[in-house]
Amino acid sequence: MSETLSNLAREERRFEPPADLAANANVKEEAYDRAASDNEAFWAEAAERLDWGQKWDQVLDWSNPPFAKWFVGATINAAVNCVDRHVEAGRGDKVALHWVGEPADDARDITYADLKGEVCRAANALTDLGVRKGDRVAIYMPMIPEVVVAMLACARLGAPHTVVFGGFSADALASRVIDCGAKVIITADGGYRRGAPSALKPAVDEAVSKVAADGGEGLVEKVLVVRRTGQDVSWNDSRDVWWHDVVDSASAEHEAEMHDSEHPLYVMYTSGTTGKPKGILHTTGGYLTGTSYTHWAVFDLKAETDVFWCTADVGWVTGHSYMVYGPLANGATQVMYEGTPDSPHKGRWWEIIAKYGVTIFYTAPTAIRTFMKWGDNFPADHDLSSIRLLGSVGESINPEAYIWYRENIGAGKAPIVDTWWQTETGQMMISPLPGVTAGKPGSAMKALPGISVDVVNDEAESVGNGNGGYLVIRQPWPAMLRTLWGDDQRFIDTYWSRWEGLYFAGDGAKLDDDGDIWLLGRVDDVMNVSGHRLSTTEIESALVSHPKVAEAAVVGAADEMTGQAVCAFVILRDTAGDGGADIVEELRKHVQKEIGAIAKPRQIMIVPELPKTRSGKIMRRLLKDVAEHREVGDVTTLADSTVMDMIKTKEGSSAASEE
Ligand code: PRX
Repeated sequence: MSETLSNLAREERRFEPPADLAANANVKEEAYDRAASDNEAFWAEAAERLDWGQKWDQVLDWSNPPFAKWFVGATINAAVNCVDRHVEAGRGDKVALHWVGEPADDARDITYADLKGEVCRAANALTDLGVRKGDRVAIYMPMIPEVVVAMLACARLGAPHTVVFGGFSADALASRVIDCGAKVIITADGGYRRGAPSALKPAVDEAVSKVAADGGEGLVEKVLVVRRTGQDVSWNDSRDVWWHDVVDSASAEHEAEMHDSEHPLYVMYTSGTTGKPKGILHTTGGYLTGTSYTHWAVFDLKAETDVFWCTADVGWVTGHSYMVYGPLANGATQVMYEGTPDSPHKGRWWEIIAKYGVTIFYTAPTAIRTFMKWGDNFPADHDLSSIRLLGSVGESINPEAYIWYRENIGAGKAPIVDTWWQTETGQMMISPLPGVTAGKPGSAMKALPGISVDVVNDEAESVGNGNGGYLVIRQPWPAMLRTLWGDDQRFIDTYWSRWEGLYFAGDGAKLDDDGDIWLLGRVDDVMNVSGHRLSTTEIESALVSHPKVAEAAVVGAADEMTGQAVCAFVILRDTAGDGGADIVEELRKHVQKEIGAIAKPRQIMIVPELPKTRSGKIMRRLLKDVAEHREVGDVTTLADSTVMDMIKTKEGSSAASEE
């Protein structure tokens, strides 16, 4: 990075909203006061932007915290809001998705009328396959239009979906299918990534066998398979069904039932502090209200003219809230891209922006840092003048990346909305409003209207400006998670038991002298790798499930590209000897098989001991010092203070295992 850029970023910078955007903004400053004076009236007004079957008797029922009910007594259908109503309003010819496949020239424009037809067909086909309201459907697909169709078809039927990221392993898919009891899996033969077809169906076959072996015999009744790449797949005639055989021939007419506002919409699994992923449950009315309102407010969406592109994979919550439900409920035109940013060349994203005239672009800091590394010439080679607003999500955007993004993608003038939220919050919670709030590089600024966040100390007291502490949320919000699938107690324990009546987000934060919020990262054992959450314990469990491993400790170490990187310290079993020459690679592959490629440790150190306190607790803080190549901190509480010397000696000799 150039020196001037670093200097620029280090200065206290502040970018005021552009005058034209401020003058025409969807949401003005008064929204904060209006929401503060009557929160429920504010969200009721946001809910009026949707089409309801029956309206609510009560906006919020918070009589049994932490179990919230929003829009009590109302009925709604998410799919009708995302497709039918736009067609009925005469906008059927409007493009919903400019879908771009990874292979060159592989693209499809899908209008809202097309989408309606496909969703209805898929809903009919799923019904024929035995899917009924309340049944769970797992979706394990590449970024192709059928994944959006599949999600909306499930929503239409009231069959909660659980989308499992296509990069997750068969084991991860199996455990999610078992946890939520999915009776159908929708998948594809494969998808295109990094210039080649990659397979999905074999992982589904393996997952279904694993589900059966783990006590779920007969659970998965059908596997619905989209043909995307044409690669060979093994086939089970009694279970597997081709999408084109049953969906293409189904009727494009489907009468949608209105579901209760609190009917489950989906379950999304995310890593927690313990080994087992948590099934975050989102319901219908409040979720759609929260996501559609924030998409409209934070991106200042003008549905008639904007072209929106959120680069997240649909396997993460960002893809759910800001590629599927929020934007489609708002009738937006979007870009959806199947592949990686460097296929077939490093300017692919900028080429897509230029081709479709993308006006609002939403991506993650890790991607921005990658582009910075690749060089300014790639965006400079394309016409990005259509861009008027930029967004960031997944981790704090470091000031250097913020400035680079603004200068190189936003022509030095597009505002950046740094949006803080979580799988659990469902919707954005902290972000500038582009026509109202100034942007400071590195700060997500303040809570959106209708959202009440605070930074508190151990005693739950507000820390006040100029101080740091824990980020909490004081009041329920429409898209909040309702519980963890099948585990109310864990829901209470994880989020609501640290302090009475406060939602604990798991993040540290600081308020600056203006009261603006700076996120400081997780305060628990959750890592953030490329904007994705990974649990240290989950990876430790994966490592110790390998027959050569006796003990493992995992830490997230600072990484210039990915924010944090997985670093593991492993003690081998005596019977494993030195583990063999390829032990590090063998263990990395094992983690990939157990969880998925994103969890693969960047570095594995084989060590003779782990630093433990006298009570046997691993002192991760010291391991983090080693992983981040720092002077090791205070070792006085270690049971054996010589352990760190042994580990440091090992570190010198294991640098080769780092990629
Ligand atoms: O630590 C925060 C970080 O990502 C966590 C939520 O991860 P996940 O549920 O996977 O959702 C990611 C996409 C919404 C948070 O607890 N995080 C997310 N956005 C930001 C962030 N940290 C700082 N700034 C952000 N804008």
